[in-house]
Amino acid sequence: MKACRIAILGATGAVGRTMLQVLEEQTDWEIGEVRLLASPRSAGQTLLFKGQPLTLEAVTETSFEGMDVVLGAVENELAKRWAPWIVKAGAVFVDNSSAFRLDPGVPLVIPQINAEDIFKHQGIIANPNCATIIALMAVAPIYRLSRITRMIVSTYQAVSGAGAAGLAELKRQIMELEAGKAATIETFPAQIAYNLIPQIGGFNEAGYSSEEMKLNDEGQKILHDPELRVSCTCVRVPVLRCHSESIYLETEAFLSLDEVRQALEEAEGVLLNEQPYPTPLDCTDQDLVEVGRLRRDLTCEKGIALWCCGDQLRKGAATNAVEIVREWWKSVQSSN
Ligand SMILES: NC(=O)c1ccc[n+]([C@@H]2O[C@H](COP(=O)([O-])OP(=O)(O)OC[C@H]3O[C@@H](n4cnc5c(N)ncnc54)[C@H](OP(=O)(O)O)[C@@H]3O)[C@@H](O)[C@H]2O)c1
Repeated sequence: MKACRIAILGATGAVGRTMLQVLEEQTDWEIGEVRLLASPRSAGQTLLFKGQPLTLEAVTETSFEGMDVVLGAVENELAKRWAPWIVKAGAVFVDNSSAFRLDPGVPLVIPQINAEDIFKHQGIIANPNCATIIALMAVAPIYRLSRITRMIVSTYQAVSGAGAAGLAELKRQIMELEAGKAATIETFPAQIAYNLIPQIGGFNEAGYSSEEMKLNDEGQKILHDPELRVSCTCVRVPVLRCHSESIYLETEAFLSLDEVRQALEEAEGVLLNEQPYPTPLDCTDQDLVEVGRLRRDLTCEKGIALWCCGDQLRKGAATNAVEIVREWWKSVQSSN
């Protein structure tokens, strides 16, 4: 099989560094040249890949030439700025920002759920929002037993979900407070140390934050179900890594907890953990979405409640993107 040449756009960030780590771990397909791109601030610095230093380059119009794939780990405006140049260079852009996720011409993919959509791409494939990936990995095995008509979700999202700056803010604020100083606030809308913030992104007219709407809008696209309804409350918590979610769902048909348990046990990429339950620390730096606290809802016959946790930098971002590339690359190579 031909080796796949991959550039990481935003290689120095929280997602970009995790992408490099996930690429290093790949064993059943060959990765050729790896090119690391970031801002001019990082140019000339190095990151290790398989023990060898790779030099970071400042991204330019010619950075994508000779690449098969570009993994995007930059914010929306940068993803939009560079996408035409990536497509022009003939590379496939697998983007982690939300810039293209709801574009009808761009597949939005979780390979364990809708891998077939990958092959409809026209140069860009979008990686879903991290909380959406973790929730859908947990509920898609149930959805395959019976359509889910509505979901009510509360998220508990780690500070690294806001990138390297979010991680630094929690650590800095804890040190400031321990030293008797006031916490300085730069990245989050309020102090995150020893606190919870029920806001991720701006609010719409109905009072929902942009993060809260993603699970509804992206969930409909990934499950190919425009009737799906998800009402969400997203909360930033002072946890370094891994998003956790409390999910209540209603199915069209009555499902026994035994059949739900069996579906979750058989689902690829999911671990049913009822001994006693998953926590963010347990789920850090691994790819499984863990599900626990499975129980019947007390207010509705067809209602089921569960708790899930997943590493949002790995399965919620880098791993999912690399899985998309792997699936696409293997298929392209086997058809050549
Ligand atoms: N963090 C998560 O858990 C998560 C999960 C899913 C999706 N995402 C999405 O993934 C993307 C990256 O997030 P992140 O958390 O990794 O952010 P981050 O830690 O802030 O990293 C941002 C990256 O963008 C680069 N960058 C900034 N300005 C640039 C410029 N002018 N030209 C080129 N590169 C530039 C930075 O390079 P320098 O170091 O050179 O500034 C850095 O590599 C975002 O769209 C985010 O919404 C994040």
